[in-house]
Amino acid sequence: MQPLPTGLLTLLLAWCLPAVHANYFIIQQPTAGTQWQNGAANLVTWTKGVGDGVDGVDIEMSRLSMDGLIFVAKDAPTKPGALNIFLQDIPPADDYYLLFLNSTSGNMFATSTKFSIGSQANTSATTDSSVATVTVSGSPNPTAVFATTFPPNANGVLAPGWRALDGTFPQLLALLGTLVMCVLGGALTLL
Ligand SMILES: *[C@@H]1O[C@H](CO)[C@@H](O)[C@H](O)[C@H]1NC(C)=O
Ligand SMILES: *[C@@H]1O[C@H](CO)[C@@H](O)[C@H](O)[C@H]1NC(C)=O
Repeated sequence: MQPLPTGLLTLLLAWCLPAVHANYFIIQQPTAGTQWQNGAANLVTWTKGVGDGVDGVDIEMSRLSMDGLIFVAKDAPTKPGALNIFLQDIPPADDYYLLFLNSTSGNMFATSTKFSIGSQANTSATTDSSVATVTVSGSPNPTAVFATTFPPNANGVLAPGWRALDGTFPQLLALLGTLVMCVLGGALTLL
């Protein structure tokens, strides 16, 4: 049998997978034009695919024009999809963005649009008092540790159906793989 074209296989899987496994992760707030304030709790919100297995994220903040990261929170639970970030003495600038990632595996889930941080405490900051608040202070510093680490069990809350979906996913994948092999097999016999 001829070797399978792995490039084609990957491409076919890439087309098929999103339909099976809605994999998306979008930071909704802050948006472009949002101004965060020092001395205030500023709301971050996000939405993501159900059943993608991402229960916790590490949150970092950075600037487009500067190296360095502000470590905001480690293992923040991805539910309920919102978090306040209380800022202290963060240098005002208009080129901040947020990164949602797994800092252990280096897997990036989402980045926000560029937003700004104002110079003074401002009561116009948007806050959701029903969700967790983490505090960050100071300038970007690559050696700094995460300001807040959420306990591991904070990630333990699963929506009904998640486990069931996790269980069926490998099966779906196997099925899909078989299907793709069939299609490829068919194509190869035509060549
Ligand atoms: C990050 O990735 C590592 C290695 O893949 C994994 O063990 C860990 O559970 C992940 N962290 C979170 C918060 O999902
Ligand atoms: C507070 O925020 C508003 C809207 O972003 C802005 O117009 C105003 O200048 C800010 N005030 C201070 C003191 O930063």
